[in-house]
Amino acid sequence: MRTQVCIIGAGPAGLLLGHLLRAEGVECVVIERQTPDYVLGRIRAGVLENITVSLMERLGLDARMKAEGLPHDGFNLADGERLIRIDIAELVGQEVMVYGQTELTRDLMEACEERGLEVIYQAADVALHDVDGDAPFVTYIHEGAQQRIDARFIVGCDGFHGPSRKAIPSSVSQEFERVYPFGWLGILADVPPCNHELIYANHERGFALASMRSPTRSRYYVDVPVDEDIREWSDDRLWDELAIRLGPAAAANITRGPAIEKSIAPLRSYVFAPMRHGSLMLCGDAAHIVPPTGAKGLNLAASDVHYASEALTRYFKTNDPAGVSRYSETALARVWQSERFSWSLTKLMHRFPDDGPFERAMQVAELDYIANSRAMQTAIAENYVGLPV
Ligand code: APR
Ligand code: PHB
Repeated sequence: MRTQVCIIGAGPAGLLLGHLLRAEGVECVVIERQTPDYVLGRIRAGVLENITVSLMERLGLDARMKAEGLPHDGFNLADGERLIRIDIAELVGQEVMVYGQTELTRDLMEACEERGLEVIYQAADVALHDVDGDAPFVTYIHEGAQQRIDARFIVGCDGFHGPSRKAIPSSVSQEFERVYPFGWLGILADVPPCNHELIYANHERGFALASMRSPTRSRYYVDVPVDEDIREWSDDRLWDELAIRLGPAAAANITRGPAIEKSIAPLRSYVFAPMRHGSLMLCGDAAHIVPPTGAKGLNLAASDVHYASEALTRYFKTNDPAGVSRYSETALARVWQSERFSWSLTKLMHRFPDDGPFERAMQVAELDYIANSRAMQTAIAENYVGLPV
């Protein structure tokens, strides 16, 4: 098979890129290792920045998001005693959309057939070849037969564990990583949220987050040691801990219910540079990971995809390679800003094992400064809604 762009990975980044390229008449094909159900089974966050919403609007795939999503014009920080509201609408004139990123992936997936986006699922042993030149190709096994796709560009949207990043020689690449000494224990329950907005709490006992999927489905998290055994956490123990960490005002409104999903996810900050090598470009988790504190994961993938689709469309429509040449520099500029915000909010809102009374006092003082400073709240707000693309 020959195409113009071969996309590896049918998660949100790969599907979003595929739809954007198709919409511009750029030939592309997506190859995915798993089945559609497996891809939809991935636990994902629930906050969309404007860049993500606007790309779905441009594709005309925003109907369900607009019908079921929850526009939020603020969120809250909590210090165990009070809520500090960050009024993003008043401070920076923008809002975020609370909508399950799994649902966004489903919307992209369900549109493939009608939009003519070819996705090959259950593609095994995907391998990249000749990415240094201008005639790269991908091989894989599908239904027991060896297959090959020749393309002008390959875009790795294959997540943190995919093969694309590894096709870039270590002699020209650099990795930046911080692994956090805690994970997030998350619970999904069909109960109404305790607050109409999100609450990120830093309590003496640790971090908690109150989020939601709809007016009848809530998503909560607490941080736990990275090696925690989830069997140690009954639903009741988790509801008790959430009530303590979120503070009395939120606790009074918590509705308990059985977990329909409960899992522990590790936290990591990671950046791989460059995000392009020869005819291979990287988008999304294939190139970077952020701790979920800033809800940046999918939204950073969306800005990568925006830059990549603009660059590739320009190349194929005008034979101008400038966008492709600048892709890594352009994408990384926004990646580093999201990494900084996610790392900063993680440091502010979590107890680290080596923290003593002084570090705790500094967190409390910073939260108090935020509570009383419009300038600090504005800085947090402009990062939370997403810096300009
Ligand atoms: N061959 C083909 N496909 C592969 C391979 C492979 N060898 N390895 C991984 N994949 C597929 C995975 O099965 C997955 O469907 O690539 C896809 C990568 O998708 P994600 O991991 O969701 O990454 P991305 O699309 O970049 O999403 C970024 O979305 O919801 C958020 O938190 C999530 O930060 C993440 C963000
Ligand atoms: C979620 O709803 O799952 C969620 C929301 C905000 C975050 C992380 C996760 O920062």
